[in-house]
Amino acid sequence: MKKLILVLILLGLALPGMAIAAGPAVKLDRVSVDITNQASLQRGARIFVNYCMGCHEAQYSRYARVGQDLGLTEEQVRENFIFTRDDRGDPTRVGDLMTNAYPPREAAEAFGVAPPDLTLVARVRGEDWLYTFLRGFYLDPERPFGVNNAVFTNTSMPHVLWELQGWQELVSDDDGDVRLEVAESGSMSRTEYDAMVRDVVTFLSYMGEPVQHQRKMIGIWVLLFLGLFTVLAYLLKKEYWKDIH
Ligand code: HEC
Repeated sequence: MKKLILVLILLGLALPGMAIAAGPAVKLDRVSVDITNQASLQRGARIFVNYCMGCHEAQYSRYARVGQDLGLTEEQVRENFIFTRDDRGDPTRVGDLMTNAYPPREAAEAFGVAPPDLTLVARVRGEDWLYTFLRGFYLDPERPFGVNNAVFTNTSMPHVLWELQGWQELVSDDDGDVRLEVAESGSMSRTEYDAMVRDVVTFLSYMGEPVQHQRKMIGIWVLLFLGLFTVLAYLLKKEYWKDIH
């Protein structure tokens, strides 16, 4: 029994180390997103529907809800965000889920893996990972689409934002450290591209948990209430025990 406990303790100690060992070889760039920034969310959503939804879905999100949270009218949502049609060939309605018409089987044949749903990806991968991933594509002639990724090695996703970012190369210096360098620039400068990716990550983070802002605000009020209540309870206790002591 003692041995078993010892083994369990050692295993518990070893696990976090194993998790680190399995992590990405590249250091993740940190990004701080502000999901209360509606302008950033709107820009991110626009990139998402234009550049990502051809392959990916966000099937647990509705256009209507996103529009509401981003401060847009139904008309604006219809005009700016909806480019798909439903099964009957009618334009997708504002109340519909954010799906696309790309059959997963065909997508899997084209890319080797079906592009995963992205509704919850920010919660699975984390914001820093997404930020580094979307800025981490580099030229690699050995890959089917000619690109590899610094964070997600041998990913099947092509570099869909190449027109904006341009093409990067992986360069290793004498110490064996690797970094990405621009080989051919795109229509955006590096700063513009980073800011755009941050908007996309902000949108993905919002989509992963649309109520996170309200949740945090409610948390603050609850703590304030508990603080106030503690003071009141203490004063009341003093009042009740006054005659006994
Ligand atoms: C041409 C199709 C295509 C487009 C367009 C596309 N992706 Fe992908 N994406 C893929 C495929 C295929 C994979 C699966 C890669 C794999 O597992 O190797 C993927 C994987 C991903 C992943 C990793 C998911 C995970 O946790 O494994 C993220 C994040 C992602 N895409 C984000 C985006 C974003 C953001 C956009 C828009 C800027 C986008 N993708 C546009 C095809 C696409």
